[in-house]
Amino acid sequence: MENLPDNVPLYELDMVKDFISAVLGRAPAQMMMGSFRTAQIFFGINALNQMSGFLEARLEKDERRVLIITDDFTEKFANQVIVELNTIEAESKVWSGVKPEGPIPTIEEGAEVCRDFKPTVGIAIGGGSVMDSAKAIMLKYENPDANFYRLLGLGGLGLRKKMKFLIAIPTTSGTGSEVTRNAMLTITTRDPPQKLALSHSELVPDIAVLHTDFVKDMPPFLTMATGLDALAHSAGAYVSTWGGPLNDALNIAAIKEILKYLPRAYKYGAKDLEAREKMQMATVVAGMGFGNTRVGIDHGLGHSLGKVFKMHHGFCVGLFLPYTVAYTAKISDRWKDLCPVFGVESKGKERKALLTELLQAIKDFIHSIDGAVFIKEVKNPTISREEYMAKIDLLVNYAETDAVDLLAPRWMHKETYKKIYEYAWDGRDIDF
Ligand SMILES: [Fe+2]
Repeated sequence: MENLPDNVPLYELDMVKDFISAVLGRAPAQMMMGSFRTAQIFFGINALNQMSGFLEARLEKDERRVLIITDDFTEKFANQVIVELNTIEAESKVWSGVKPEGPIPTIEEGAEVCRDFKPTVGIAIGGGSVMDSAKAIMLKYENPDANFYRLLGLGGLGLRKKMKFLIAIPTTSGTGSEVTRNAMLTITTRDPPQKLALSHSELVPDIAVLHTDFVKDMPPFLTMATGLDALAHSAGAYVSTWGGPLNDALNIAAIKEILKYLPRAYKYGAKDLEAREKMQMATVVAGMGFGNTRVGIDHGLGHSLGKVFKMHHGFCVGLFLPYTVAYTAKISDRWKDLCPVFGVESKGKERKALLTELLQAIKDFIHSIDGAVFIKEVKNPTISREEYMAKIDLLVNYAETDAVDLLAPRWMHKETYKKIYEYAWDGRDIDF
């Protein structure tokens, strides 16, 4: 490890890719990580109260120093949490310096605030960027010398000595970061800036607080896009061949709930709190399902598209979900389990016809909530064919160096990425 460059993520290095490929193979059916990690989950109308009770029982009065981490937008939710913290006489401070997709300099800033305030509890209130940034801030607070580029689940980090508890209160329903070990940051020293993936079991928050007050007013687009993120997590993870009974059960349960409640949440918003609540839970169930296995290749393809064309993460990974199912179907039959979930009758049908029907059902669902399944139909931003094709090599380059590539269930290389991106222009069926 000594001779490796220390400013390049491990998953970008050929030698690491070769090693992983040799050890795990590209289709390690039914293989699982050696542990199942998740946060404790407090949900429902007394979720905040459960949270304060948890802290009160574990921290002496003079130890209760809470840093609330938000961004400009989610800062408005802090007061409700402070009111709750006041009931246990906890000292609190709000830091709203998180920026979209966690640029590394903002992580350093947040860690500096921690060194100054010395919180024993961190509470992240926000979407994926806030929760992911809070994980990284906790790491830098505890261990200022930690090298983000080397963080890929190996060795112990020695966290929770200063910040005893990390609590996540999601304000969107999709990322699942509230229960996962993953965090996406942005390397700003690269031009253009690139995503950096962290993954370590010590980054799993200790508690996830699910309360509809924090998600009920999400606008329709955000509801749809983040919901599609959760769908891609569970369906992409399910077909990615790494599941076992525990993850499979979670992923299938999540898909069922999402199919049932996402259209309602999208259509009725704050008027349908039951749908909001069900989507919060489905997101967490999907988070446990994929967070303890891996995501589908839709995430590598979608990360790249989102970065290059400045599009929402969930919208992009949802777009690539049908391609993921089709591409992975060449090496596994796990997609067949999704047929009954999507209401596709399997009996008496040939494999190819059945797969086509399943893919259509997935696309129909995405369309039913105004998502897109190919680039040409994307309305915001509209992308011309010329512009898209001109940037296809950049898309390939980003996808190929994405952390998702490292554990792709079916071998991916430049040509396959390029072909999928080309097919995705007008929604051609994967035939390779
Ligand atoms: Fe995602």
